[in-house]
Amino acid sequence: MDDLATLAVHGAKAEKPQNEPVSSPIYQSASWTFRDLDEVDAVYEGREAGAIYGRNGTPNHRALEALFAALHRAESAVACASGMSALSATFLGLLGSGDKVVASQDLYGSTLNVLRDLGRFGVQTVTIDIGDVAGVKRALKGAKLLLLETASNPRLRVPDLPKLSALAHQAGAMVVVDNTFASPYHCRALEHGVDLVMESLTKFINGHSDVMLGAVAGKKDLIEKIRTVAVRMGLVSNPYECWLAVRGAETLELRMERASRSALELAQFLERHPKVRRVHYPGLPSHADHETARKVLRNGFAAMLSFELEPSRTSVNALLHHLRYIKLALSLGGANTTLSHPATSSHRFLSPQEREALGLHDGFLRMSVGIERLEDLRADLMQALEAV
Ligand SMILES: Cc1ncc(COP(=O)(O)O)c(C=O)c1O
Repeated sequence: MDDLATLAVHGAKAEKPQNEPVSSPIYQSASWTFRDLDEVDAVYEGREAGAIYGRNGTPNHRALEALFAALHRAESAVACASGMSALSATFLGLLGSGDKVVASQDLYGSTLNVLRDLGRFGVQTVTIDIGDVAGVKRALKGAKLLLLETASNPRLRVPDLPKLSALAHQAGAMVVVDNTFASPYHCRALEHGVDLVMESLTKFINGHSDVMLGAVAGKKDLIEKIRTVAVRMGLVSNPYECWLAVRGAETLELRMERASRSALELAQFLERHPKVRRVHYPGLPSHADHETARKVLRNGFAAMLSFELEPSRTSVNALLHHLRYIKLALSLGGANTTLSHPATSSHRFLSPQEREALGLHDGFLRMSVGIERLEDLRADLMQALEAV
């Protein structure tokens, strides 16, 4: 009898090296074997290190979670398939029917939409202006959760995390912060009193625009509630993406250092340019939250800025047609500098009234500054603005 079929399944045997590789292996397996039932019990109960099933996570998931927790000096972390799944798992793990969420009106558009969806399950959301402390205090009465962004998308509003966290805790609410724009390089939000810090790792942590991932970090008891939902509902990622993000994060500080330095220079350049009506960058004294940003952010003011041309799609298209390096792309946090247009992308699904209230008109652009040479970026903007 030809044993080819059996050999094809079982023949690929290699000895496990006893020494450690410099780059950790990718555990591309959705399923794991067990010696016997005692080992199954031991792994489930955490008495023995081991993996169970893809949805429960692999060593690559655990490595990314350990990394994210370490970067935020958190007790624990859970990785999910995207920033939105990390937020969704957080809401589904911590909220129930009848609960009230107080959310900054300046959140990423999809986050506002998820909160709206949760209304169908009895979770009510009230939006607030982070600068109106008395209004925040009023809204927090009876709230279960306060949701903020460290530097908001796209106006770069920076909340006074210590002050708002204290108010939320007095009201019995926990505080969740989306720290995507800042990354741990610019803000360790847990050190400012918040309970959970979440990031879309798709952005700066991975840093190369080639994975979708998210994570939440904080105290172990909260993280375990979120993990249970993430595993049960399948909101988890795969080993390869986790591996890529671990690799990308090795250069986080180098990238952020360069990009945030360039962002400040470009914000100053744009603020002086006659074709630019307004610049939103927390590092500029003209920004409403400059003083708060000096307290909450560290190592500079991050790599995201927004600027306003006249409210016209024609002007924006003229700029886009003339830029050589800076491309329109609907994400952020990569090595390359990109622009996004909130009115047609991240905030597309808000009502025109909601967009208007946030000032997100047709000439509003958000820029994610990358690691190219600053002089090239400045020259690129200068020549393209000529065409506007
Ligand atoms: C501030 C912020 N939070 C969350 C997300 C969602 O992350 P993801 O696209 O990884 O789901 C984004 C995406 O742009 C974002 O900008």
